Amino acid sequence: MAGKALSIGILTSGGDCPGLNAAIRGVAKAAMGSGGARIVGVENGYRGLIEGRARELGPAELSGILTRGGTILGASREKPFEDRGLPFRTDADEGMDKPELIKENYRKLGLDCLVVLGGNGTQTTAYRLQEEGLSVVGLPKTIDNDLWGTDVSFGFHSAVAVATEAIDRLHSTASSHDRVMVIELMGHKAGWLALYAGIAGGGDVVLLPELPYDPAAIASHLRRRAAEGKAFSIVVVAEGAMSVAESLMDKKERKRLRAASPFPSIGYRVAREIEEATGAEARVTVLGYLQRGGVPAPYDRLLATAFGAAAADLISARDYGRMVALRGGAVSSVPLSEVAGKTRRVPEGHELLRTARSVGTCLGDE
Ligand code: F6P
Repeated sequence: MAGKALSIGILTSGGDCPGLNAAIRGVAKAAMGSGGARIVGVENGYRGLIEGRARELGPAELSGILTRGGTILGASREKPFEDRGLPFRTDADEGMDKPELIKENYRKLGLDCLVVLGGNGTQTTAYRLQEEGLSVVGLPKTIDNDLWGTDVSFGFHSAVAVATEAIDRLHSTASSHDRVMVIELMGHKAGWLALYAGIAGGGDVVLLPELPYDPAAIASHLRRRAAEGKAFSIVVVAEGAMSVAESLMDKKERKRLRAASPFPSIGYRVAREIEEATGAEARVTVLGYLQRGGVPAPYDRLLATAFGAAAADLISARDYGRMVALRGGAVSSVPLSEVAGKTRRVPEGHELLRTARSVGTCLGDE
């Protein structure tokens, strides 16, 4: 980095995931190493920037965090452009809304640029801040792997490993009791996690938000398995999975019906549908936050470190308004304008859908 050393703000926003600390370390070490940058860690995502909560990160803070889960900076789901009003105001805040306060605190903290680690909502906010005049670089993180513009986000492969191990463990208890084991995984809008873990764990049925399911198709698949002497089955359900009937409703109607449903989440409903249609005994596991917690898998440590170093390169070139990405196996970057407001869902005809079908996995649609 030539010239004056830069002040780089870093924040982690949205749901946490394994690899955030590795990425913070990657950005900071690369930027400090190449130009002696000053690193400012903003606390709790955009909320910290609204409230002016930040601390300098030096070598001591960055040491030993590569393998740590969560985020040393804390996270929040603050969306400053969606709910712009301030919860409590002081005289100094008069006339300010959240985006204004962010700009003000960016200036007060002496930042030259801001690196934001997050998923879809975070990158959309990053784009809007860039449009408002800040210098922003995005890093893609999410266990859902649904960020537009990158083939993969860090956090995803750690979650796949946890989910796959859970499916493996369900196999032995399912076979001991001749039961159907339903496991519900995260993924509201995109089923990447269910698809990857479902194939890796050998799920017999895998239900994704992208492919509305027919309860009758699932039941006939399970009956066929039983007729072949397979007395147990594993059903992997993404939390955003929906039936064909639900897919024909508008979103409001679907939400209203879900809210009135006696089932705490979709996995429980699928289990009941299976019991009613087949007479089999079904049990439900909702894996929940175990998918987001704990140490990052080696691949995510590698990816997060490479992404962090690539962010430092963009900063060094003053090439702002971009998100670091993995495209076709190479680390590169995409304009935030292309990423903002989009979701990368499993596309129709994706090769892993074909893989699943060709090994006899039922995707609920036929
Ligand atoms: O960040 C993505 C995600 O892991 C989703 O798959 C999940 O639905 C959501 O977070 C839940 O997170 P929270 O309860 O923290 O909002």
